[in-house]
Amino acid sequence: MRKVFNFSPGPAMLPEAVLKTAQAEMLNWHGTEMSAMELPHRGMHFQEVMQQTESDLRTLLAIPPHYRVLFLPDGAAAQFTMVPLNLLGDKKCADYIQTGIWSKKALTEAERYGAINIAATLTKCDGLLALPPQSTWSLDEKAAYVHYASNETIDGVQFHWVPETGSVPLVGDFSSDILSRPLDVERYGLIYASAQKNMGQAGLTVLIIREDLIQDPLPGTPTLYTYKVHAKHHSMAHTPPTYSWYITGLVLAWLKAQGGVDAIFQINQRKACHLYDCIDRSNGFYVSPVHPDCRSMMNVVYDIHEKTLEPIFLEEAAKHGLVYLKGHRLRGGIRASIYNAMPEAGVLLLADFMHTFMKQYG
Ligand SMILES: Cc1ncc(COP(=O)(O)O)c(C=O)c1O
Repeated sequence: MRKVFNFSPGPAMLPEAVLKTAQAEMLNWHGTEMSAMELPHRGMHFQEVMQQTESDLRTLLAIPPHYRVLFLPDGAAAQFTMVPLNLLGDKKCADYIQTGIWSKKALTEAERYGAINIAATLTKCDGLLALPPQSTWSLDEKAAYVHYASNETIDGVQFHWVPETGSVPLVGDFSSDILSRPLDVERYGLIYASAQKNMGQAGLTVLIIREDLIQDPLPGTPTLYTYKVHAKHHSMAHTPPTYSWYITGLVLAWLKAQGGVDAIFQINQRKACHLYDCIDRSNGFYVSPVHPDCRSMMNVVYDIHEKTLEPIFLEEAAKHGLVYLKGHRLRGGIRASIYNAMPEAGVLLLADFMHTFMKQYG
């Protein structure tokens, strides 16, 4: 059992079992006397890693055959550029839903390549951050796609429903909640997520893209920013981040062994409830700025009513092995990121600590 619970938003905690397997296999992957790190990407051994990883992801998310899975280098932020370059096509315009810092970054980047319509923005309900109801969105039926962030990692705001976009492809940034709950892939044209939160270590971004959307990119698009190229070369248009890919494979195998996405969803709901209950029952000592309808199950963001207590909270939490709870520099406050690999025991320990801290300072 690990002694420190890391609540970082990413790179984030990995399952202990995954780290132990990686450790055990470090010098000898599957009897080859080579580390997974040393396997050539086109060799038969790494092909095994690739195939198993894709097959496990397909099983976990029930990905239909007419979707391609691509394993790309770089973080999800590269998709802020690649999505417009590859999907705008002749339509040259797209709709973006701005619900926090990440979706804002995505649309700011897309504005370099086409006419971007901000179809809806984060709003307030009862003084709390709230998602704009779909009835208020100004979607353009001629848009090439609609982009949104399923979970805003910094703001702690999450969609608990899937936007309806008719025949316009829906593009979802799932960087901080992929594999944390059931996902109906067929509602999407493209899903992307970087690995370092819920799926492994940094360096890899996974794309699930409907085959018909793999089309010619805008003129001048760099070769390695072209989905068509990556699809044609089965994510091997260059040397991929093989060790990150291998770790993602271990994480997916671990998730299957936990009972898959439905099972982890039950645990994730319980984990989030422990913390939100603690906040809601604190008589205003802890304050959630997010409306209960769209509170994130992955990134629990809150403040202490008396701001000067926050550094003390962080310092004392760390003494209890509860680390990286500081909110994002653009927002401040406290943020507990509780991805799949965060054990329920870690969340219970944090809830206990919050309770004790409140009794002492409240
Ligand atoms: C929702 C979301 N999208 C995109 C990104 C950017 O990902 P990366 O740092 O892998 O480029 C992040 C990073 O935290 C994120 O949380």
